[in-house]
Amino acid sequence: MVITIDGTVGSGKSTAAAGLARRLGAAHLDTGAMYRALTLKALDGGVNLEDAQALADLAAASVIELDGTPGAGRVRLDGRDVTQAIRENRVSVHSHYLARQAAVRKILVEKQRAFASRIGRLVTEGRDQGTVVFPDAEVKFYLDADAAVRARRRQLELQQRGEYHSYREVLKEVLERDARDSTREADPLRPARDSLRVDTSAMTVEEMLDALAAEVERRRKGTT
Ligand code: DC
Repeated sequence: MVITIDGTVGSGKSTAAAGLARRLGAAHLDTGAMYRALTLKALDGGVNLEDAQALADLAAASVIELDGTPGAGRVRLDGRDVTQAIRENRVSVHSHYLARQAAVRKILVEKQRAFASRIGRLVTEGRDQGTVVFPDAEVKFYLDADAAVRARRRQLELQQRGEYHSYREVLKEVLERDARDSTREADPLRPARDSLRVDTSAMTVEEMLDALAAEVERRRKGTT
């Protein structure tokens, strides 16, 4: 069983994936964490982010481990716990350099599929999960919300981690990240044809989870 959740920055993907995984007794695969882990390593190692070969080599030489626990799942990079470090805003704003490299994506997509074969029951979130990585997923969701709502959520999330950024700054960043994700050549962000699109702008977390769980239930009934 694979359920995919793709969508824009701040649309609620992580909350949705963690919550749905918990409700379904499934693992949670946060694929963004993989791109973030490599970004952290590149930044800390002083790797030139414009150097495609260096980034591909870095991806090939890295060991990323995700434990799949819904919510604050642990992320280890080359044996080191980077769960907190990968959430820093400097990682968020530089992750597009890794995400746009086809060679890097190929390596991470293989890891994501291997994770799925190992775990079996999975709710996975990212940008290309329904379109590229798991085209045969049981249910696919595409989440979006108004940019203003997404910027507020993101600002709050950063605040909770002790990082203070103005609303204007965060809004600009959110729009830039979406534009980069949707216009890059390699596996751009777009809804899968067979995905259910959900606008989470006016939804509480519980409402969002109820809507997703109801759709999973509906599809299951429809196919059995
Ligand atoms: O969802 P996130 O903000 O943690 O994602 C971090 C970065 O990785 C962001 O630049 C988008 C990119 N990403 C991607 O290209 N494909 C995925 N499946 C997941 C994330």
